[in-house]
Amino acid sequence: MNPLYIIGAVLGTLATSFIVAFALIKDKKQAIGFDRNMKDIDILKRLLKYAKPYWKQFAFVILLVAFTIAADIALPLILGDVADELGEVGFDYFAVLKDAIIYFVVLVISLVCTYLMAVVLQKTGQRIISNMRQQLFVHIENLSHAQLNAIPVGKLVTRVCNDTNSVSMMFTGILVNLVKNIFLTAGFIIAMFSVNAKLTLIVLCFVPFIVLFTIIFRKFSRKAYRNVKNNMTDINTYLSENLSGIKVTQSFNQEATKNNQFLRKNRTLGKALNQEIFVYGVFRPCVYVLYIFTVIAMLWVGANDTISQVSFAGQVIGYSTIVIFYQYIASFFTPIQELAEQFNRMQSAFASSEKIFSILDMQPEIVDSEDAIEMDEIKGDIEFKDVWFAYIPDEWVLKGVSFKVNAGSTCAFVGATGSGKSTILALIVRNYDIQKGQILIDGVDIKKIKISSLRRHFGQMLQDVFVFSGTVKSNIVLRDESITDEQVEEACKYVNADKFINKLEHGLDEEVRERGNNFSAGERQLLSFARTVAHKPSVMILDEATANIDTETEVLIQDSLEKMMNIGTMLIVAHRLSTIQHADNIIVLQSGEILEQGTHQQLLRKKGKYFSLYQLQYKKQLLEAGEA
Ligand SMILES: Nc1ncnc2c1ncn2[C@@H]1O[C@H](COP(=O)(O)OP(=O)(O)OP(=O)(O)O)[C@@H](O)[C@H]1O
Ligand SMILES: [Mg+2]
Repeated sequence: MNPLYIIGAVLGTLATSFIVAFALIKDKKQAIGFDRNMKDIDILKRLLKYAKPYWKQFAFVILLVAFTIAADIALPLILGDVADELGEVGFDYFAVLKDAIIYFVVLVISLVCTYLMAVVLQKTGQRIISNMRQQLFVHIENLSHAQLNAIPVGKLVTRVCNDTNSVSMMFTGILVNLVKNIFLTAGFIIAMFSVNAKLTLIVLCFVPFIVLFTIIFRKFSRKAYRNVKNNMTDINTYLSENLSGIKVTQSFNQEATKNNQFLRKNRTLGKALNQEIFVYGVFRPCVYVLYIFTVIAMLWVGANDTISQVSFAGQVIGYSTIVIFYQYIASFFTPIQELAEQFNRMQSAFASSEKIFSILDMQPEIVDSEDAIEMDEIKGDIEFKDVWFAYIPDEWVLKGVSFKVNAGSTCAFVGATGSGKSTILALIVRNYDIQKGQILIDGVDIKKIKISSLRRHFGQMLQDVFVFSGTVKSNIVLRDESITDEQVEEACKYVNADKFINKLEHGLDEEVRERGNNFSAGERQLLSFARTVAHKPSVMILDEATANIDTETEVLIQDSLEKMMNIGTMLIVAHRLSTIQHADNIIVLQSGEILEQGTHQQLLRKKGKYFSLYQLQYKKQLLEAGEA
């Protein structure tokens, strides 16, 4: 035998190992789209934890994989046998038939195994991913307002939908195929050596080329893939923001501008996708050419040797050898290529996993302290003791605010826009934690009360009323199934929401579309009142919307407010001073500080800020009345 074969094969194998090792090391340093902070192995370990409950399914899949590997290796051998039979003069018809039947049976078993494998993997993978998605959603729900403000919604959507999808490939294909292809490659090499060492050496000479191709391909494909992914996130973020704000776009005639912006993003994404397809389009034919070369080399040597019947280490090249090798070469290149692609996908799945884990690792800032207590009942005494608060470090929004609200009384906050009224309300329910001072409920620091237990006692009606898609009723009960239909009706009646609800075609079952866009602002506000009253809170928080509502609805709202003031403690931010004339205490805020406080009458007598505010509104009303 020509020693060149051995040298070529040894060099080939060595070069392959070097190139692979080099690529692996470089890979670690290179991230997809962003700096990777977690090690591959740590990510893998964490991912495997998700798979652990399904180990039985995966064990079954591994068994199936073993069958398919065995079949892949056996099938060419059977065909080789047939070739030998056919090559003999006066061949044995039955022997060929027997081989054909065996071939058929093995093929069918292999197909069934592949099918079962796909089904089991898909099912298990989807289950794992749906668990992960659920975990992610629950986790996001627990993040504090400050944390949520910091991440664009579109990004969160991408994490929950796209990134989990990319991770799902890890379980549905990548991991198993990776294992399969490694064993398959090893299996083919062993099988080829045992059939004919010389031809195997020739085949191995070509391996470095395919590895080289693959590495070059990976460099480009990774870049393309990263591009696609970034553009996809970009479009998602753009969409989620602009679809929410589409009405503003329309009313400011900004459609054309937005169209152009979207068009640009859309085109960039298209280009990125084309790039990706192009990279694959070049890679596959290159590999095919390589395959053809290998086959030609094998046939050249094989045919020469068959004719001269040269044997090497006792191995003779016959018809069967050629047939077997022809098939092995075709199958041998596939797992090597796939290995590279799977490695790629694994990297992108790792990248997605890391993004998901980085959200899961965000510790909710506002959590129960260890000794947090459950409060089954609260009276409703509220006290702020020298409270300092800033959204952004050192930009104080509240500066030493102190006040006391007695259980059952109504306290109102007035003040200019941005003076910190909504902030005070957000602090009482611990949407944010204060930096200095103390907030006490019934004399207990709110940081010592379990958050769920604290929030249960508060009914919040916020400045921008949020209604969910569903029905009127589902918006009132939310997820509290203990609220009966009668209670819902009672609550609606109490806050005067029944008047408009009764006018609806389906009443309480009327459909509410996304964000309640089929209801007016006033109706939405009444709906939020009903929601609050139905949940029977001990303390009610109302941040009055500044939106103008018609006089009729205003009267209804006014009336229901007065009724609600009798339910329990009430904290109210009012823009119409008429709303709060009967409040027990009115606090006037200016730039995060309390300017004055007292009852309506006391404050009027004081002739301070409240007095001038009242005069302004009163004059306006008089003017309006005069015009009418
Ligand atoms: N999430 C936030 N991040 C940073 N700053 C904020 C945030 N929310 C509010 N602020 C700032 O805090 C200040 C007080 O806001 P707040 O919402 O309490 O005002 P307000 O008195 O309720 O005003 P309005 O009458 O307009 O509702 C404002 O200057 C505002 O810019
Ligand atoms: Mg506000």
